[in-house]
Amino acid sequence: MSETAERHSILLNDGNTMPLMGIGTYADPKTTPKGSGYESVKLAIDVGYRHIDGALVYFNEHEVGQAIREKIAEGKVKREDIFYCGKLWNTFHPPELVRPALERTLKTLQLDYVDLYVIELPMAFKAMEACKDAGLTKSIGVSNFNRRQLELILNKPGLKHRPVSNQVECHPYFSQPKLLEYCRQKDIVIVGYSPLGTCRDESWVNLTSPPLLSDDLLISIGKKYKKTPAQIALRFNVQRRVAVIPKSFNPERIKENFQIFDFSLTEDELKAIEGLNTNIRFVELKMWGDHPEYPFNDEY
Ligand code: A2P
Repeated sequence: MSETAERHSILLNDGNTMPLMGIGTYADPKTTPKGSGYESVKLAIDVGYRHIDGALVYFNEHEVGQAIREKIAEGKVKREDIFYCGKLWNTFHPPELVRPALERTLKTLQLDYVDLYVIELPMAFKAMEACKDAGLTKSIGVSNFNRRQLELILNKPGLKHRPVSNQVECHPYFSQPKLLEYCRQKDIVIVGYSPLGTCRDESWVNLTSPPLLSDDLLISIGKKYKKTPAQIALRFNVQRRVAVIPKSFNPERIKENFQIFDFSLTEDELKAIEGLNTNIRFVELKMWGDHPEYPFNDEY
């Protein structure tokens, strides 16, 4: 495996690149101490993370932006070393609201552009294309799209910029074999969210499946490499060229999650881990289950 901690990017279909390993920054704003996003992103950049996944609706985008800017000011990184992904929230889908929403994200971050801007449901893509043309984002992508919704965009007459990525739940218990195959054919990178199986907050997580990180197979493969089940779960995706954005605001775990470039899983181990797939999501977003574009009724 040729990826290293310093170089582990995947080429996107518009010529830009995305580091396969990133850090997620969503944490419940009601229970998370102020400043933990800021501290965690600063540490993550020191540890070597260059891909940061955030959103205006995480309510800590100002902290994330401050961390990035301070690391740039310190000379630790240049802006172009960082890959920041922002997200268009559902209430900003009318085309005239798309650019203002992205501009709000940029103002919150105090950055001139994001590297990737993704939308949740397929209505506002033309306005997203305009944001790329205006240089406010380097790339445009989507999140939680099923195959039919991706096709809707890809088959749009006059489509100017294809989505470069689709951010979806992806981990050994929900490894997305069919969507991954389809996205590979279409040159769309899968970014796996909840790659460690979420925080298991029962207010929004489907707890049908047991905790991913207590899985016997992940534990036993981990023993062989002196790695934790979390590192095995992350390595599994990165080795399939699925980008991962594990959320952690804990310094030791932020470091641990990045230590996945000094070993490789064998083909047999990858197959065995694929065998853990249950097709059961942790993140069902049931509160939007009656929306006509609710993405999770289709098989994939
Ligand atoms: P914390 O922020 O305290 O580290 P996911 O990215 O799959 O949604 O998982 C995020 C959850 O897993 C968070 O609750 C996070 O908590 C926890 N977590 C992150 N890294 C690890 C790890 N290496 N081992 C165990 N739990 C982890």
